[in-house]
Amino acid sequence: MSLLLAPSMLSANFGELDKSVELVNEGAADWFHLDIMDGLFVPNISYGFPVVKAIAKRARKPLDAHLMIVDPDRYIDTFAACGVEYLSVHYEACNHLHRTIYHIKDKGMKAGVAINPHTPVDNLKEVLSDADFFLIMSVNPGFGGQSFIPNAVSKVKRLRQMLQECGSGALIEVDGGVGVQNAAQLCAAGADILVAGSAVFGAADPLDAMRRIKGE
Ligand code: DX5
Ligand code: ZN
Repeated sequence: MSLLLAPSMLSANFGELDKSVELVNEGAADWFHLDIMDGLFVPNISYGFPVVKAIAKRARKPLDAHLMIVDPDRYIDTFAACGVEYLSVHYEACNHLHRTIYHIKDKGMKAGVAINPHTPVDNLKEVLSDADFFLIMSVNPGFGGQSFIPNAVSKVKRLRQMLQECGSGALIEVDGGVGVQNAAQLCAAGADILVAGSAVFGAADPLDAMRRIKGE
């Protein structure tokens, strides 16, 4: 499978949101990454359903929502109704992760499990065959534009090995501090999807940045 790129709309220009959406539609990107933050699970608040719906209305590529919120089960149905296709919840935010994964799947979405930099990939062992994708945070979640934590590379390698051993076809997504400088390394380590916010929307030429991150 070739590398997928999911630009994070957190770094979009919210004053001209339609233009940012169009860039992703027209560019080499594959998914829209939507960062939902509640000011509790992470020390920042991002945006909610009015913005998700505005993006969904114009998006011509799948929506990948990353919930950095406590008790995410409360909103699963609403994200499904917004047209989200890929929905990830944090391992650290779920008391009943297995139930949450199947709630997401029951709503017709692909279920993802995200882990913070301090959470070992071994903690995912019992849900390797349940989730459709896993999101390895390579920064502490909450803000765009932070520096990549290099330890994420070995976590990707280890998770790839674990998935192979149990015959799971789940995808691996990496999020935080990703750009042209580390995309090839993450891909070689076993990443399938790269999230990039500032590396895309902060670039002088976002269309060129998307191609370069994908190695095109
Ligand atoms: C961080 C978010 C990321 C963030 C990535 O909490 O989950 O998706 O927007 O932004 P960059 O690519 O700028 O690190
Ligand atoms: Zn994210």
